Amino acid sequence: MQTISRLDALRPAVDLLKDGGKTLAFVPTMGALHEGHLTLVREAKARADRVAVSIFVNPRQFGPNEDLDAYPRRLAADAALLEGEGVDLLWAPTPDQMYPDGYATNISVSGLDAVLCGAARPGHFDGVATVVNKLFNQVRPDVALFGEKDWQQLAIIRRMARDLDLTQPRADRIIGVPTVREADGLAMSSRNQYLSAEERQQAAGLSRAMRKAITAVVAGEPVAGALETLRADVLGAGFSSIDYADLRDAATLENLPVFDSRPARLLVAARIGPARLIDNMAVA
Ligand code: PAF
Repeated sequence: MQTISRLDALRPAVDLLKDGGKTLAFVPTMGALHEGHLTLVREAKARADRVAVSIFVNPRQFGPNEDLDAYPRRLAADAALLEGEGVDLLWAPTPDQMYPDGYATNISVSGLDAVLCGAARPGHFDGVATVVNKLFNQVRPDVALFGEKDWQQLAIIRRMARDLDLTQPRADRIIGVPTVREADGLAMSSRNQYLSAEERQQAAGLSRAMRKAITAVVAGEPVAGALETLRADVLGAGFSSIDYADLRDAATLENLPVFDSRPARLLVAARIGPARLIDNMAVA
């Protein structure tokens, strides 16, 4: 695996990877890699001849109250993991390569960025859209993979790719990879490590409550009632508060007070112990 941290070295390296018409899959990350990331890498390998991964802790997606400096940085350990997975290229730019002096451009995917997690983190999804657009232009992949765990992020990136007519990758080549779950249904997340043994057990109640709500909605129960039961179930399981529990259009993230034929997603963010957990599931 080649590790590159300068833009002038990246361009010829990408050209070489794509030489002879080879296809390139791309997994953008902020490092501190866990099983969820490695699942994306394995899926990337299945979808293209070559795989590139980026590690860049993007300052523009951290708010003023969020500790950018405390974000875990483990480049050597991450690189060893990626090497073990057979990744071809690791793009690990420095902040000055990504945002040189005088950098001024921002991408904002209006509307989709203001709801759900975006409501509490103004500017966060601008930072995500901006850096992902730059990463796409730098790596020029045929296909890019993102975890469905961050459904809002995935919806925003797909919308950006469609709105800006991106070709590398095309919007329909932005692949959402299903959330990896523990045996008891808890979505894998680096935040789970902050839970005590008791909180960890209680946390499984979130996905259970979500599945129950989905069954109710699909069976024709009014959405408001199903969401009210969901909230009670999540709090009853041991969560201390719920930031949101919404049924939304899977693509536009528009709130759905009524479940109709559109692809819909149930999205929840709730706090337990020191952690704020998010999860989402298809409603079908
Ligand atoms: O999901 C992440 O790790 C980040 O938001 C991403 C997509 C790499 C952009 O910095």
